[in-house]
Amino acid sequence: MASQNRALSVLLCVHVLSLIAVLNSNRVSAQSKAVFACDVASNSGLANFTFCDPKSDVKTRVDDLVKRLTLQEKIGLLVDSAGAVSRLGIPKYEWWSEALHGVSYVGPGTHFSSVIPGATSFPQVILTAASFNVTLFESIGKVVSTEARAMYNVGLAGLTFWSPNINIFRDPRWGRGQETPGEDPLLSSKYGSAYVRGLQQSDDGDKDRLKVGACCKHYTAYDVDNWKGVERYTFNAVVTKQDMDDTFQPPFKSCVIDGNVASVMCSYNQVNGKATCGDPDLLKGVIRGEWKLNGYISSDCDSLDVMFNSQHYTKTPEETAAIAILAVTRGLLKESDIDNAVSNNIATQMRLGFFDGDPSKQIYGALGPKDVCTPANQELAREAARQGIVLLKNSPGSLPLSPTSIKSLAVIGPNADVTKTMIGNYEGTPCKYTTPLQGLTASVATVYQQGCANVACATAQVDAAKKIASTADATVLIMGADLSIEAESRDRIDITLPGQQTLLITAVANVSKGPVILVIMSGGGMDVQFAKDNPKITSILWVGYPGEAGGAAIADVIFGYSNPSGRLPMTWYPQSFADKVNMTNMNMRPDAATGYPGRTYRFYTGETVYTFGDGLSYSTFNHHLVQAPKLVSVPLEEGHVCRSSACKSIDVVEQSCKDLAFDIHLRVQNMGKMGGSHTVFLFTTPPSVHNSPQKHLLGFEKVFLTPQAQGLVRFNVDVCKDLSVVDELGNRKVALGQHLLHVGSLKHSLNLRI
Ligand SMILES: *[C@@H]1O[C@H](CO)[C@@H](O)[C@H](O)[C@H]1NC(C)=O
Ligand SMILES: *[C@@H]1O[C@H](CO)[C@@H](O)[C@H](O)[C@H]1NC(C)=O
Ligand SMILES: *[C@@H]1O[C@H](CO)[C@@H](O)[C@H](O)[C@H]1NC(C)=O
Ligand SMILES: *[C@@H]1O[C@H](CO)[C@@H](O)[C@H](O)[C@H]1NC(C)=O
Repeated sequence: MASQNRALSVLLCVHVLSLIAVLNSNRVSAQSKAVFACDVASNSGLANFTFCDPKSDVKTRVDDLVKRLTLQEKIGLLVDSAGAVSRLGIPKYEWWSEALHGVSYVGPGTHFSSVIPGATSFPQVILTAASFNVTLFESIGKVVSTEARAMYNVGLAGLTFWSPNINIFRDPRWGRGQETPGEDPLLSSKYGSAYVRGLQQSDDGDKDRLKVGACCKHYTAYDVDNWKGVERYTFNAVVTKQDMDDTFQPPFKSCVIDGNVASVMCSYNQVNGKATCGDPDLLKGVIRGEWKLNGYISSDCDSLDVMFNSQHYTKTPEETAAIAILAVTRGLLKESDIDNAVSNNIATQMRLGFFDGDPSKQIYGALGPKDVCTPANQELAREAARQGIVLLKNSPGSLPLSPTSIKSLAVIGPNADVTKTMIGNYEGTPCKYTTPLQGLTASVATVYQQGCANVACATAQVDAAKKIASTADATVLIMGADLSIEAESRDRIDITLPGQQTLLITAVANVSKGPVILVIMSGGGMDVQFAKDNPKITSILWVGYPGEAGGAAIADVIFGYSNPSGRLPMTWYPQSFADKVNMTNMNMRPDAATGYPGRTYRFYTGETVYTFGDGLSYSTFNHHLVQAPKLVSVPLEEGHVCRSSACKSIDVVEQSCKDLAFDIHLRVQNMGKMGGSHTVFLFTTPPSVHNSPQKHLLGFEKVFLTPQAQGLVRFNVDVCKDLSVVDELGNRKVALGQHLLHVGSLKHSLNLRI
């Protein structure tokens, strides 16, 4: 028997239903107006229902509706393609829409049509994350939710979007790393909560109302798709308690607590032998119990089917259904469990205004086609790419190129004139595209050679490329990957540039007359050590998948209309890492006994090609420490066990550690001739207790400074939150002793004692 604590609020993807055969799944058909319940104007009787009364509170309305539903109707409301309850004026509703970096056509809830043929396509998330600009993360979310509401109003979109993806980009080979904000738990937390706020926050400031519903996924420890035959559907992620609590869980915790997200989606994989969608500790215990999710939990598509058919995790379909609250009739579950689940779903719809009648008369009613792909929205897509692009190498005299002195520019490479490649996955139809070639050609005369038929580059057309490079004033090579190399269900084996790309680049660089700019378009990091070492390659730019305006933004940076300020949100490893390290090894910490090098800048001990936080500017910035304590004392009560000198850490739950905080003030100066933005990273190296990270990011702040200008950056450090580490059992502890704070090359030692 399934115990009550196994009852989850789970929204099933429709395929699970074929397994259970409870109801018909009808896809939402083409609409021309918004789908909504409580259409009092055409059925005045509905006005009598409390659940249709916008003046009542959400809980009262939900209880009223649930009371009126039959068991069959309730079950019909628990799947992504929710059934209609016509007798109560409730139409069908499709829960599944996506908006990872713009309103997407992935997911049956959203379509483009002649009414709204496209939406603003922002850079793929990994590039936006590289901007390290929290304001930007939220601004993008806000534009996306405005465009989503406009599409909903004309019947083209739903109100619930299963974005963002905040899994930690733990291994460079992961095909979906591009969708994430990178490898750092703090950056991922800041990205996730800011993007969710941008999507959800109601224009009228009412905290209980949702503009659209967001969903943080995939919970949890999910980052293997298909590597050497190991598939996500059957992969069991073996994760230590310590890694779980200081790497994999923090972004989800922040998404629920700081972002107040309306939904969390559990993942396909198992964690320590348990299916995430069927683990009451992870779901009811943590998400609802500890973090107090105000919303619904969704299963990944088919994950319950997968649980039964692929993982053989449950013995019978009925048991699977019980976990997912679909076997009431067989007595495996109480109807009250169903009521809880359906209440969470309906409450979310109430907060979205779905039960408030005609949306054209409500807060977003005026939004329509004119609000999608506006010049301002498209400019933000270009700005996001500019802010994210990372300058990795720049020899003197290389970038920026002068648009007036370059008379001819050789543009070479399989990604030089691409459109869709710039969008990455979970894409929508963009408003329009500006390819890199188009972007560059807008400023100078160009000559173009593709160099390879595609990114796989089986045979490079070296001679044709060399010919144009040898006569041009400068050469831009636009290389890298696309979804044929890294994607969902497609992890990489090699992290070098595909096929003969390296050969082409080296040959072209060798004959080029002027500067050679290598542009890497990719989601994951690439082993480009050869290019870093080759003096003929004078600059390297990483541009992620830069979105619809990517080509314009690349040109903005190359010609110095914009000063690059992006920083790598993930480590770039050498190919030897991929040859040696098992992708399936989830351990973050190195293991000297086996030679395992660990993962991410927080733990990895091996060689890197580029590291987390790398990124140059056309200016240089100096840091000066203005204020920071050298000693912080944590008061302890009399008789505490930690009074002995052997004590290395104390529990964060201690009373004494509450409200203990201090400020660090830094002065930053732009020493260059060009105005620019600069991200100040505050890292700390904790004392070496509990296998703590070699360093970790404590805060970051991006500032814009005109030439020679100075700015003050202030970090408020919460001792318990920021100077704590997670011990081997998953408990947060304040580490006592020397904490080394670093900002750029500045180091400051801080002693924490009791
Ligand atoms: C709604 O309530 C009013 C007043 O209580 C009643 O006269 C009317 O018949 C009701 N309408 C329906 C459709 O139940
Ligand atoms: C570079 O060019 C020189 C001649 O200019 C040639 O000898 C050499 O092989 C070239 N190297 C590569 C890597 O193409
Ligand atoms: C890699 O992991 C697989 C199981 O996931 C294991 O069978 C294999 O021995 C591992 N290889 C190494 C080198 O650790
Ligand atoms: C952060 O992004 C916002 C929105 O694009 C922009 O206005 C602001 O200037 C950016 N901040 C910095 C320091 O670049």
